Amino acid sequence: MSAPFDFSHPELDALRLDARECQSCPLHARRTHVVFGEGNPHSPLVLVGEGPGEEEDRTGRPFVGRAGKLLDQALLDNSLTREDVYICNTVKCRAADWATGKPVNRAPTDLETAACRKWLLPQLGAIAPQVILCVGAPSAKNLIKKDFKITAERGKYFPCAFARTAIATLHPAYVLRQMNISGDGGYSLLVGDIAKAWEAANKLRLRKAETKPGEDAMSVAETVQLGLEL
Ligand code: URA
Repeated sequence: MSAPFDFSHPELDALRLDARECQSCPLHARRTHVVFGEGNPHSPLVLVGEGPGEEEDRTGRPFVGRAGKLLDQALLDNSLTREDVYICNTVKCRAADWATGKPVNRAPTDLETAACRKWLLPQLGAIAPQVILCVGAPSAKNLIKKDFKITAERGKYFPCAFARTAIATLHPAYVLRQMNISGDGGYSLLVGDIAKAWEAANKLRLRKAETKPGEDAMSVAETVQLGLEL
C-alpha cells in the first residue's frame, strides 16, 4: 500500500491560524471565512487566483464555485487533481460591493491586495514552490509585474521573487464569460498553461538545485522559456 499524502506543514498551519484573526483591511468586516488556501503544500506548483467569491467565503475553500469547477476540469485534463498542487488567492477575504444591500463581487483594491501580502508572501515562502501559476491578471500584477498584460503575456515565463519562475494564465471566470460569446472561450489556453507550468515545476524540482550562486531568477525564466534542458 502506498503511503498517504503528507499534507502537514507546521509553518503553514500556524500562518493559517494567525490569518483567521486578521483585521488588516476593511474586508474582514463582512467575511464569513478567511480563505487561506489548500492542496499539497509540498507541491512544486502553486496556483494563485484573485480572491474568494460567495461560495468560497461560505465554505472557506478556494475555487469551489463555477470558476473553480472549470479549474478542476482544466487540472483533470492534465491528469492532475487538487492534491497535486497548492491553490490559494491574492486576497484571502471576499471583496464585494454592498451598496445595494446584496453583495456583488468585485476585484480587490490595491490597498486590500497590499494588506494581504502579509499572508500571501509568507505562505509562498513556506511552500517555496518551483513555479507559481498566476490565475488571472490581478494575481500576475501582484506577483510578476504591475503592468502585466494578461492576453499578450500569459503562457510565458517571468522572473519572480517568490518562486524560481512564474507564468500566468486566463482566469476561469473570464473563460466562462467568453464561452458564452464564442468557442472554447480560451479554455484550451488555460489547460495548456497549466501543462506548461506543471512540466516546468517538475523539471525544476528534478534538477533539485536551489538557485546556485550566479544563477538568478531571470536566467531560470529564460532557460524554461527556451525549453532548454534544465
Ligand atoms: N476566483 C478566484 O480567483 N479565487 C477563488 O477562490 C474563486 C474564484
